[in-house]
Amino acid sequence: MTQGKVDALLGIVFGDEGKGKVVDCFTPKYDVVARFAGGPNAGHTIIFEGKKFVLRSIPSGIFDEGKLNIIGNGCVIAPDLFMAEAKELEAAGYDLKSRLHISKRAHLILPTHRVLDRAYEAAKGKNKVGTTGKGIGPTYSEKASRTGLRVGDILEGFDAKYQALKARHEQMLSDLHFTEYDITDEEKLWLEGVEYMRQFPLTDTEVEINQALREGKSVLAEGAQGTLLDIDHGTYPFVSSSNTVCGGVCTGLGVAPGTIGEVFGIFKAYSTRVGAGPFPVELFDETGDKIREIGHEYGAVTGRDRRCGWVDLVALKYAIMVNGVTQLIMMKGDVLDTFPTIKACVAYEKDGQQTTTMPYDTEGWRAVYEELPGWQTDLTQMTSEDAFPQAFKDYIKYLETELETPITIVSVGPDRAQTIERVKA
Ligand code: GDP
Ligand code: IMO
Ligand code: MG
Repeated sequence: MTQGKVDALLGIVFGDEGKGKVVDCFTPKYDVVARFAGGPNAGHTIIFEGKKFVLRSIPSGIFDEGKLNIIGNGCVIAPDLFMAEAKELEAAGYDLKSRLHISKRAHLILPTHRVLDRAYEAAKGKNKVGTTGKGIGPTYSEKASRTGLRVGDILEGFDAKYQALKARHEQMLSDLHFTEYDITDEEKLWLEGVEYMRQFPLTDTEVEINQALREGKSVLAEGAQGTLLDIDHGTYPFVSSSNTVCGGVCTGLGVAPGTIGEVFGIFKAYSTRVGAGPFPVELFDETGDKIREIGHEYGAVTGRDRRCGWVDLVALKYAIMVNGVTQLIMMKGDVLDTFPTIKACVAYEKDGQQTTTMPYDTEGWRAVYEELPGWQTDLTQMTSEDAFPQAFKDYIKYLETELETPITIVSVGPDRAQTIERVKA
């Protein structure tokens, strides 16, 4: 935690690295927790005291009373899904309205954006992105086209603005010959969600965050998705539609580059990807199935199987570079507990050529591995790094050396309590 600074916690692979868990663990140290990008395509899992929550739009700092949580201007928000998520938390006893502020500049996901998401995917045939179907792409496209609706729009003359945009979308869908949809029920809930959102402080969150920084308060920016899903730096076009990298913190919260403090890059001891697109480390054999099964690698939002593979140093080095990662956090080491050997991808190979730097297009490249001994020890009950078996310590050391960045936190299970801070050398 750095006083008067924004620390960023960023997924640095294909998402689902465990961001929610770590943000929840870090929250006691911070005054403000803010989401800066993405929307309900995210699914951030938090487990503590026998309770489990999967957050989509609400920051993972929400469980700590007295901390301000912010949905920043870089986010997109679906009022119906937001209402469902918030009501679940309220029912569990968390008073959201006193601790959650939403940027007036965040863009609204309309029911018709979700239909457009389906229509664009259908039109892509075999080149589908495999989106979460939450209307993310169409909403960010609309933002860039300067035709979108923002949260602030719900405060005045909303109905006319909504009807006009909906009509525009209906025309677009008709042009695409995508007419098999019925949003009647969805729209009813969505409009209820808009009413519900009016009960929250809808504010100029960039002003609030900068004021907090001037007062010497600390801010944690919670990433969504991961670097390889970033619209600029990911495996385009198989990406999401926002800037998930560190630069996105500045634009998505309205903070200057100089306010960024630590940049935590979070990754798993292996790799996963959900949705379509190149994934050089993907395992199609029983090893991949075993990682999926032990790691419960099924999408938190869509329930889809996550594709699994070994850790990818080419991708991690690239992500560390574009984000300026200062500390690494390694999750899910425990999932590899029973493997006799572990592999790490050190290069990509195609047509007899090898590269250790991220190619423009990762399609068709295959992974070149280095093999390391497994630890074959149960890590899940361990509470300090002293207890780690030597082979696990060696794996951590190997990654730190290859990535030239310290791994300061190691997670050995999904619970808040299974988080080990490493002593700095
Ligand atoms: P996020 O989107 O980055 O917040 O990550 P997700 O919540 O989508 O996926 C991470 C999954 O791994 C969740 O099911 C977590 O409960 C679980 N998890 C997090 N850390 C660990 C860990 O160290 N070990 C194990 N076994 N599971 C973990
Ligand atoms: P968290 O925050 C993993 C993937 C989708 C798809 C692509 C585009 O939980 O890590 P979109 O709906 O955004 O247009 O889909 O991005 N994707 C994610 N994969 N974790 C996520 O979020 C993701 N959000 C989007 O599967 O391949
Ligand atoms: Mg997730």
